[in-house]
Amino acid sequence: MKSQYTISKQVQDFFKHAQDNFLSLSYEDIRLIPRHSDLHPNEIELSTQLTRNISLATPIVSAAMDTVTEAEAAIVMARCGGIGIIHKNFSHDSEQDVVKQIKAVSRVKHNLHAMIRTPIGFPKDITLEQLLRKKEESNYRFETFVVYGDEGRLEGLITNAVIKYNRYKTNLKLEDIMIRDVVTRKECSLQQAYEVMHENRIGNIVLVDDHRRVRGMYTFSDVENVIQNLNSQFTTDKEGMLRVGAAVGVQDMDRVDELVRKQVDVICVDSAHGDSLGVIDAVKRYKKKYPDLEIIAGNISTEEGAKNLIDAGADALKIGQGPGQICSTRIVSGIGVMQPDAVYRAASYASEHGVPVIADGGIRYSGDIPIALACGASTVMIGQGLAGCKESPGELLHEDGKLFKIYRGMASVEAMSVKGGSDRYQKTATDLRKLVPEGITKKIPYKGHLEDQIFMLAEGAKTGLGYCGARNLGEFKERAMLHRITAGGIRESHPDTRGMIHTPPNYSRP
Ligand code: XMP
Repeated sequence: MKSQYTISKQVQDFFKHAQDNFLSLSYEDIRLIPRHSDLHPNEIELSTQLTRNISLATPIVSAAMDTVTEAEAAIVMARCGGIGIIHKNFSHDSEQDVVKQIKAVSRVKHNLHAMIRTPIGFPKDITLEQLLRKKEESNYRFETFVVYGDEGRLEGLITNAVIKYNRYKTNLKLEDIMIRDVVTRKECSLQQAYEVMHENRIGNIVLVDDHRRVRGMYTFSDVENVIQNLNSQFTTDKEGMLRVGAAVGVQDMDRVDELVRKQVDVICVDSAHGDSLGVIDAVKRYKKKYPDLEIIAGNISTEEGAKNLIDAGADALKIGQGPGQICSTRIVSGIGVMQPDAVYRAASYASEHGVPVIADGGIRYSGDIPIALACGASTVMIGQGLAGCKESPGELLHEDGKLFKIYRGMASVEAMSVKGGSDRYQKTATDLRKLVPEGITKKIPYKGHLEDQIFMLAEGAKTGLGYCGARNLGEFKERAMLHRITAGGIRESHPDTRGMIHTPPNYSRP
């Protein structure tokens, strides 16, 4: 496959020319030029990189916003081949906020439960009766337990068959009835575990370290369940668990420690101004402590920002300052690089360094996705397009027979009134009237299932590749050709909705 980081020569010339003329163009100003196609639409796929080391089948990331991504939404995102970034605005109490975010991460990681990280175990010299009492007290609904010897070393297993055969001899010690011949491995992926268990008709594999201390356990029924439900589209880690990301602030090492403990796949150092000393320093510190942890850093709009964050150790860059549909940053502050231009500026540097770029915000229609990808993005992050779904956080509102949900900017007064909610915008005032909002809060129509939204967005993006004769993102990025359209062109491109008898799932009036 051709490189996903390519930016076509024509696209480079297009932006160079625009920049030479001090022009910064928005999604609405740009369209792709169709190219000859010799492919069938079924051949088109969208696989891509989220970060240096995490790939996705669908280039869509749900925004780290408190009306967009908590556990339920992140589970659907990963099952659809994308990924969700859990927000960090759960509670007024900062400790509670971390606890709730960690719980959400954990729920996603255990949605496809495959490897048991800390199997429940008992010392070998207790009796079966004692084990059963503990099982009852603790409400354990499973019947496979590890038996420990000295210094926590694995000695054997108690399974449901052992419990069943000895149900009238519960005074026996575990060491007298346990299975001694336990299959162990030091390393074992989910797929390997399935093959070994299936071929050898084994119920359990216990993962041990060099001293035979238990590090995990696979049980056949869990593994089979996960393998049978696995879809090649799912975004999973090497243990078969769904992948998930989490937003963190710049002074947040305790949160990062907890997230790593819960096996978060990627953290997102989330700031409205990523090219700033605080963010650069935070990325360095987090990377130094956790070199294997994937870090997304942002948000930025320039080559300079891309260089600074890549030098600090970022594994992906998040681009976008003010394009979001609840953002007022550009109006409040006067700054603003239009999103395709910002994506191109950052990607033209990042692509040389093998670092993927996330185009964050401003995706109003599925057609904006291929434009973002042509400009150099590897994925898009979406807020409004994925908010208002059944799985989105927040209450369903009923008004005049219609259903709504709230979608709000993280720098809206409402979001910032949650303690810590204003971190992303480096606003420290404690008096709410002294916080300067950079976002709004609004009602949006209820959209139904998140999965259906992702389907429309991803399939719409695929049609873009199809019109450009590209089977995958590598081919697309090499073939993409852009041009600028006028206000008349924008009008010509939208349907005339007068008399429209119903709103289709992928189009509403601008
Ligand atoms: P969309 O257009 O997909 O954008 O709704 C989502 C992105 O917007 C950013 N965001 C904000 N930007 N003020 C801003 O200037 C805000 O209050 C705000 N809240 C979110 C964020 O990058 C998100 O992913």
